[in-house]
Amino acid sequence: MIPPRTNHQLRRVSKWMDLARAHDTALYRHSIMVSRLAASFAAFLGRPEAEQHTLRRAGLLHDIGKIKVPAALLRQPLPLTPEQLSIVRAHPQLGYELLLEAGETDEILLSVVRDHHERLDGTGYPRKLTGGRISWPVRMVTLCDVFAAMTEPRPYADVMFWDEALERMSKKRTRLDLDLLSDFATMVKAMNASQKPSRSL
Ligand SMILES: [Fe+2]
Ligand SMILES: [Fe+2]
Repeated sequence: MIPPRTNHQLRRVSKWMDLARAHDTALYRHSIMVSRLAASFAAFLGRPEAEQHTLRRAGLLHDIGKIKVPAALLRQPLPLTPEQLSIVRAHPQLGYELLLEAGETDEILLSVVRDHHERLDGTGYPRKLTGGRISWPVRMVTLCDVFAAMTEPRPYADVMFWDEALERMSKKRTRLDLDLLSDFATMVKAMNASQKPSRSL
């Protein structure tokens, strides 16, 4: 039986997801993919069930701030102007504020929403955090987010196969957590092997 608190959380998440779907279907699909990957990754690493649940929610909500970004801008091919880029790049902070105002109190979830575009070498946004200031759950969802973005249809770049995406990610050694990436790659390969003959997740 689902505990009442969890049930309440699921209802709240589903309201946010309704808003995301109404705003942009690609945003909705992307959020679901990141959520599935994040929950699977947490399970693959043997994390407790409560943590898997939090990461599932964090994956669903990590880009919720994009409902405040005009949908036309989300679909626009690159390159964006500096002004457009700064509007899109406001989404982590906007999402964090939306969830705080709605009464969200889960600090792990809130940090994932605010920090999922931070990079280990400080080249990310919005706060340019470095290494140790980026928590493990954030690093984990970041890998899922980057992988999902590379392997799903995008208006601004070609879709990549999963192996090509992992290869590209492994070259971002100053930005992504390579130890975690190695585990993530093992999981993706295992998932893909179980889905043959399809090449993509
Ligand atoms: Fe994002
Ligand atoms: Fe994302």
